[in-house]
Amino acid sequence: MKATGADNLSWVNDFRQGMPVVDDLTYLNHASVGPPHADTIAAAQAFLADQHAHGSLNQLDWFAKLDEARAQAAQLLRTSEERIAIMPNTSTGLMRALGAIPLQSGDEVVAIADAFPAIYFPVKSFADRGATLIEVEPALNIDLTQQVLDAITPRTRVVAIPWVGFLRGARLDLAALSEERRRRNFFLVVDAIQGVGVVPLALDELMVDFLSFQGAKWLLSPLGAGVLYASESACELAPDFQGWYGHEIDWNAFLRRDTALWQGARRYEVATHSMPSVYGFVASLSRFNAIGIPRIWERIRSLTDRIFAGLSQLPVLIVTPQPAEQRAGIVTFSCEGAGAPAGSDWASPASELFAELSRQRISVSFREGFIRVSPHFYNTEEEVDVFLAAVKGFLG
Ligand SMILES: Cc1ncc(COP(=O)(O)O)c(C=O)c1O
Repeated sequence: MKATGADNLSWVNDFRQGMPVVDDLTYLNHASVGPPHADTIAAAQAFLADQHAHGSLNQLDWFAKLDEARAQAAQLLRTSEERIAIMPNTSTGLMRALGAIPLQSGDEVVAIADAFPAIYFPVKSFADRGATLIEVEPALNIDLTQQVLDAITPRTRVVAIPWVGFLRGARLDLAALSEERRRRNFFLVVDAIQGVGVVPLALDELMVDFLSFQGAKWLLSPLGAGVLYASESACELAPDFQGWYGHEIDWNAFLRRDTALWQGARRYEVATHSMPSVYGFVASLSRFNAIGIPRIWERIRSLTDRIFAGLSQLPVLIVTPQPAEQRAGIVTFSCEGAGAPAGSDWASPASELFAELSRQRISVSFREGFIRVSPHFYNTEEEVDVFLAAVKGFLG
């Protein structure tokens, strides 16, 4: 099935050539895990073949690939390479960031109550070092950014938020939070895994202290490679534990003890990276940079608009904010209103719908009683319609 539409979508169709997933599944589940493109898989395999055949002989190429990863990530995030550290996943980046932030008793740490555990637990355990955790409870039809802004006080030391929430897909306004960060003295720490690769981001225009993500969702990369962005002032801090990759190690003199931490974000790196993942990550990043995130976002926005429009005709409750500036690639709904008997658990029709979609090889997520749909730019309108028809068929 090809992408059709008024625009010239040959770039989408070219990309689909390298995505066998489209022949097997109606895959609308990128908020869970993104299937890598054939070129990304080939890059990861090339690394493994090299290690298989030559051991560490070509190690200098591996370091060059790490430099390329930092450069490509910097281009994607509109910042400079010095601001980029390579990480295995979002959580590690968040922990490295939080570990560097000095905390005093009486400090407050603002978090989101329904945040994914990958940010919730690092932030909670950080606050447990003597600060008070302020949990913002998201509410339907209330702007979450405003709720976070309202929770900030003169005692706030850290605001640690997901850019895009994993469950409802609500996108926080990083520009507004960054403005507040400029006015007040707190650290803004962002889990960006559900937004990077979907919505354009220009970190050099914002005042974000740390931002962390893994590439295995929306950047369609192998599991195990990601990025920690650290602002210039965040690189004046030192990580709580220093790793050898955080130092300017002399590879001919490992016993030198006078090495310094890297000046930039690399000071937060820990140790040997998962190089097959890094090779794949670079291939994905390069492709996303070549396509351009504005074009990707335009397409994802159009597909999610179509999902909104289709679902609005059906007896479901959409919990994702409708305005495009408050969402990214996720649309989440429950079957509340779909005729579940009074007093019954309305999650149950949703779980049956999820089972039916799975039977039809339509891949979405079932989370906390909700169905979460997350199309990417390479999906087609027809795939969205297959999903909508299946939901309609189920709800009768
Ligand atoms: C908001 C959010 N943060 C983080 C993660 C994953 O964290 P990590 O990359 O540390 O495994 C997910 C999903 O798996 C997520 O939805």
